[in-house]
Amino acid sequence: MSQMARSNRFAGGLSPEAAAFCSSLSFDWRLLPDDIEGSLAHLAMLEKAHILPEGVAVKLRQGLIQIREEWSAGNLVPRPEWEDVHMNVEGRLHEIVGPDAGYLHTGRSRNDQVATDMHLYLKRQALYIGGELAGLIATLQHLAEETLDVVMPGHTHMQPAQPILMAHHWLAYAWMFQRDATRLDDWTRRADLSPLGAGALAGTPYSSDPDFTRRQLGFAGLYQNSLDAVSDRDYLIEFLSWASLFMMHVSRLAEELVLWSSPAFGYVTPGDGYSTGSSIMPQKKNPDVAELMRGKSGRVFGHLMSLLAVMKGLPLAYNSDMQEDKESVFDTIDTVLAVLSVLPGLLRSLEIHADRMRDQAEAQFVNATDLADLLTEQGTPFREAHHRVGQLVKDVLNAGYDRFSAVPEDAWREFAPDIPQEWAYHLTPETLVAARRQPFSTARASVESQIAQLALWLNQREADS
Ligand code: ARG
Repeated sequence: MSQMARSNRFAGGLSPEAAAFCSSLSFDWRLLPDDIEGSLAHLAMLEKAHILPEGVAVKLRQGLIQIREEWSAGNLVPRPEWEDVHMNVEGRLHEIVGPDAGYLHTGRSRNDQVATDMHLYLKRQALYIGGELAGLIATLQHLAEETLDVVMPGHTHMQPAQPILMAHHWLAYAWMFQRDATRLDDWTRRADLSPLGAGALAGTPYSSDPDFTRRQLGFAGLYQNSLDAVSDRDYLIEFLSWASLFMMHVSRLAEELVLWSSPAFGYVTPGDGYSTGSSIMPQKKNPDVAELMRGKSGRVFGHLMSLLAVMKGLPLAYNSDMQEDKESVFDTIDTVLAVLSVLPGLLRSLEIHADRMRDQAEAQFVNATDLADLLTEQGTPFREAHHRVGQLVKDVLNAGYDRFSAVPEDAWREFAPDIPQEWAYHLTPETLVAARRQPFSTARASVESQIAQLALWLNQREADS
């Protein structure tokens, strides 16, 4: 039974080094439930089409179900002499039912088999990831509700720019993740195809019924071309690019959490349950969870590049290079799920230092644009007002103040006899935020409407699922 994938054309066995090199067993073991599901559907089709001798299907079905139970209970030991999960299932089936096990592979190749397994596996994982992602979006939505009154400096070029509501900032990420969720739905619609029945590459001479197995397995459609069915890895590359985009969003958020939790910013403090210490510096409280999320984005991007490179020179149809798709995809799924398991908790754990952010939202002249806007309202062309206020900032800074509101009256009269100082007092972070008029601005009404829109979307998604 060893080296089952070798027919009698070979004089001897594969060398141990080559066997170890070719084996995918160390990473494709997780496909076993999907492999069994695909085999059960294939078996049902063979039985219905009277391709098998009487009585064989029942035996094989029982054997396959037993193998799945052994796997679930952790009692099935991977056997290295069988090179992959598919050959392990067939080998174990042979031990259970005897030589009739050999009928299972009628009208099927490992090429359409592994493609079927991967489609089943990915579809299930994507559904699960979609649910977890909705949880993350809901967490950001709640955080936004809790920070509707918190003002903070918004940045451009990493420099304080204009005051915003912290809720607005959380919602920006909520919308990125909402797009990720819709992109994952799009992916599912395109990837929901059954390759089973394509055989090695050309179809098979049996009167098999690929549409029957498609329905059994719950796929929305069939591939239109057998060569494409066995050699398509677009759905994996597309999934990896989906994951890369998602991880890029995660990484940006993680980067902000790292910055904001540095004492230099002091905007937030992650809960102790999400902070780590230093082995030498007793005072340290490090944002490791956020740092690792940022770091893990790199490996996911790498997996995308890796599979693109694996596929780029492959002639049709199946080539063993494609076996290299699995570790990239599996590690990506594990990474994405690991992030989704920890990010909502990290966000919920944050202590928010509203006073510090309010102070910073007033410092560094974040109301300078609005001061120029007031001059413009009085008839000064905006560009001229922009220059005038820039000069004022320079004078105030030179005099040693970090904000307009800190300038004493007499100094102000000297720097800006043409600008009433009440304006500067009036331009608080709160009035600036409230003055934004656009539907997607940081004004409270807009932010509240974003929260309502997100809630609507989340409810709709929940109802549809
Ligand atoms: N372990 C293989 C893979 O992951 C299964 C398909 C093997 N097919 C073949 N013709 N060698 O791609």
